[in-house]
Amino acid sequence: MLLTRIDHVAIAVHDLEAAIDYHRRAFGAEVHHREVVDSDGVEEALLEVGGSFIQLTTPTRSDSPIAVFLEKRGEGLHHIGYRVDNCVDALASVVAAGGTAIDEQPRPGSRGTIVAFVHPKGSFGTLVELVEEPA
Ligand code: CO
Repeated sequence: MLLTRIDHVAIAVHDLEAAIDYHRRAFGAEVHHREVVDSDGVEEALLEVGGSFIQLTTPTRSDSPIAVFLEKRGEGLHHIGYRVDNCVDALASVVAAGGTAIDEQPRPGSRGTIVAFVHPKGSFGTLVELVEEPA
């Protein structure tokens, strides 16, 4: 088994502050980590849930994939992050199984992680992010 846990569930939102405030009031959730990821054009807030995260994510520019998603689909579930021990191996296994890599090579993600996205087409309609923790 190459997956070691659900790393995060990512929700695309228009207003990050409003989404954080809602999760605080509804669940008592606090922000564990917050980061602007320039390469992806997003700002994200991670709320820890038993060693996994809810990742609230909002675009920082209009050509960001999250901006395009919000425009087309509105707010909601965007992707699921699967934690793996080795992103290169996991991505190769996905491709060997018939999945489609969006990232041909793993690349830096937030929190110093190494990540690779897998296309929803071929992955049962679900955008998946493979996430390797920093060593
Ligand atoms: Co993610």
